[in-house]
Amino acid sequence: EEIAKGGYDHFMLKEIMEQPESVANAMRGRVRPGEGQIKLGGLDDVLPQLTAAERIVICACGTSWHAGLVGEYLIERLARVNVEVEYASEFRYRNPVLDPERDVVVVISQSGETADTLAAVRQAQGAGVLAIGLVNAVGSTIARETDAGVYLHAGPEIGVASTKAFTAQVAVLAQIAILLGHERGVLSDEDFETHVEALSKIPEQIQTVLDGAELIERMARDYRYASNFLYLGRGVNYPVALEGALKLKEISYIHAEGYPAAEMKHGPIALIDQFMPTVFIATRDATYDKIISNVEEVVARGGTVIAITDEGNEGLDELAEYVVEVPKTLDAFEPLLTVVPLQLLSYHIAVMRGCNVDQPRNLAKSVTVE
Ligand code: G6P
Repeated sequence: EEIAKGGYDHFMLKEIMEQPESVANAMRGRVRPGEGQIKLGGLDDVLPQLTAAERIVICACGTSWHAGLVGEYLIERLARVNVEVEYASEFRYRNPVLDPERDVVVVISQSGETADTLAAVRQAQGAGVLAIGLVNAVGSTIARETDAGVYLHAGPEIGVASTKAFTAQVAVLAQIAILLGHERGVLSDEDFETHVEALSKIPEQIQTVLDGAELIERMARDYRYASNFLYLGRGVNYPVALEGALKLKEISYIHAEGYPAAEMKHGPIALIDQFMPTVFIATRDATYDKIISNVEEVVARGGTVIAITDEGNEGLDELAEYVVEVPKTLDAFEPLLTVVPLQLLSYHIAVMRGCNVDQPRNLAKSVTVE
């Protein structure tokens, strides 16, 4: 086991550190700057149907569901297709309205064995709807039963808390969004190329984030005794807030909630005091000014702010206790970078609290029961 951990104390840390490589693997041979195309071989046969779909329904559970939410933003923004994201467990029992002529179902699963996600595949197929799988485990049940799919190629993920599978899922969803955007004529050749180039830089940019990991360890030391955390983000970084909160809950047993930042005033703001850190994912995109007002509201109530932002932004220095910078990429791809410090934060807090990081209590890597 020590050898398998590759010199790291835990599989989770190894898997976090591996992300420059695993994300590169999720794009290898597929994203080729300068060639004017993205090649997803597993979708070749269904590409005309996927391109013509009027609605894409994404079904998944847990972290994979969070990746699906990022996918919704990406596909709607870059390809202008209507996307719904469903918890597989809800979808399957709701007798969903499905139309084989206009809908395509996309399921996302690291293990390829999650019972509810598999049931969603069967539900779609039962209604005559094309089911596409984005799966990590090669040869798994979902990979076999779906009509077409894309493997994540993230390599085996052992830590129960999913990290590198999430970034690989988002990387594949980004490729699908760009590909569909191009095929549907939403992205010009030039826009297509800009996105392909930005995506291909992500692995080295993840490495830059990892190189700054020491700051996050210091942060973890300061906040390890907190009993509640709030994570806030907007737009494409809202699912990152959910994922950051989930990571912390899963492995450190600290209660954490993720919210879209503007929803703060409809409830969570009542919880804010000096004992509850609020983590903002506040990059300089279209809603940056709005999120700064949210940060100010928290500070005004005596709350402590940790901010994840993009390189060179000094606007949060006065407001936040800690500011973690990630390299600048296109807004759409920010989750691939902003999630990494949150993975590290939960990892270090869990280690400092003496938790069993790779095998958290009550959780299973793959949930094959309903
Ligand atoms: C479990 C795991 C999570 C995972 C979820 C969905 O809860 O502990 O890490 O996100 O199942 O699993 P899947 O294999 O379908 O992605």
